[in-house]
Amino acid sequence: MFSTQPIGYVRSPYKDTQEIPKGLGAKHEAEGVLEIQAEFAPGLTDIEGFSHLIIIWEFDRSEGFNLVVKPPSDDRSHGVFATRSPRRPNPIGLTVVELLGREGPALHVRGLDMLEGTPILDIKPYLSNIPPERLRRGWLAEAEVHAGMKP
Ligand SMILES: C[S@@+](CC[C@H](N)C(=O)[O-])C[C@H]1O[C@@H](n2cnc3c(N)ncnc32)[C@H](O)[C@@H]1O
Repeated sequence: MFSTQPIGYVRSPYKDTQEIPKGLGAKHEAEGVLEIQAEFAPGLTDIEGFSHLIIIWEFDRSEGFNLVVKPPSDDRSHGVFATRSPRRPNPIGLTVVELLGREGPALHVRGLDMLEGTPILDIKPYLSNIPPERLRRGWLAEAEVHAGMKP
């Protein structure tokens, strides 16, 4: 196994997990900056051409894990790997953000759901080629129907 090293840190408006929208229909519109360390900045070359990025990061303020969890979006329990719970065996988060612009090693983005100072492990361009009609949303789709959000 390899050990990880942050390539940068998230500058987020969220200082406390309570401030981050959660549950069904939660919208993640928060803007912030991904500050990439100078030594890794050459790796951002040509990133401006992508509208959305996948950010892989560490749940650095999460301790331990539960294999079965009850997420805020449902009143039923689910396996941790069928959720986005922060309490997982390897505390790795993944967020798709919209790239608003770049100033040198700073990426201005929209769509943050992580805390101020969160370590960034990796960035990749978002390239989904799965047609919407082939996507299945598992228990979340059922919870949305149950909540009257979907027919
Ligand atoms: C449900 S997780 C989803 C994160 C990511 N979109 C994913 O799918 O991996 C988002 C929650 O993680 C928690 N969180 C955010 N940043 C964190 C951090 N640096 N350490 C621990 N927990 C964090 C907050 O409670 C936030 O609402």
